[in-house]
Amino acid sequence: MRKPFIAGNWKMYKTASEARELVQGLRRALTDTKGVEVAVCPPFTALAQVAEELKGTEIKLGAQDLFWEEEGAFTGEVSPVMLKDLGCEYVIIGHSERRQYFGETDEQVNKKVKAALAHGLKPIICVGETLAQRDAGQTESLVREQVEKALAGLERERVPEIVIAYEPIWAIGTGRSSNGTDANQVIGLIRRTIAGMFGTEVAAEVRIQYGGSVKPQNIKEFMAEAEIDGALVGGASLQVDSFAAIVLYQV
Ligand code: 13P
Repeated sequence: MRKPFIAGNWKMYKTASEARELVQGLRRALTDTKGVEVAVCPPFTALAQVAEELKGTEIKLGAQDLFWEEEGAFTGEVSPVMLKDLGCEYVIIGHSERRQYFGETDEQVNKKVKAALAHGLKPIICVGETLAQRDAGQTESLVREQVEKALAGLERERVPEIVIAYEPIWAIGTGRSSNGTDANQVIGLIRRTIAGMFGTEVAAEVRIQYGGSVKPQNIKEFMAEAEIDGALVGGASLQVDSFAAIVLYQV
């Protein structure tokens, strides 16, 4: 049984002190998360403060990126060892904003995934198509390729630790979410792609989230679908009320 997983990607929002305040609010609102796994992914600069606030709670900590080397002369980069040391359990890898604005490639994503796993961090790997690719009927081939390249060369035993987030780029921050049926279809394809690489048993264990304008008003629609195991939430994870309502969507 895959445990539903809701993660908040705070992107480049919240100073360390604002982050502390947000987590204090989440602690109060999420005392009983009813079988849902919850993680927050603040900017690097707030990880230490958030880790401190999360002590004694069930809420997990994640980072938004990492570099694949353990240490070295890589100015501006953050290593998996550093994230692990701060108490991170998850790390988002290959978000479309990193691919789009920072030129991150599938090969780099693959290196990051391997580095994360090697250091005991669980990757949340983001894939998804642009509107032009969707309109050109390329969604399935593109998403399949992104998944195959991200997971290339992984040891089968490690694959169940991975989370995939299907985030259609046209739905991110636009208020125009996908719908349950369409997202479920692409997520089903992602699971079949994983099955083709590592077998159906492994694929059945991997959690696959939907991301893109997830709100308290539409979370139910996505979670009702068989293949969708949770959500990667951007904008709505920045306020206590909306994020808590998404986590507690069943009630
Ligand atoms: P929004 O929820 O703001 O659309 O962002 C989605 C996202 O990119 C999460 O990683």
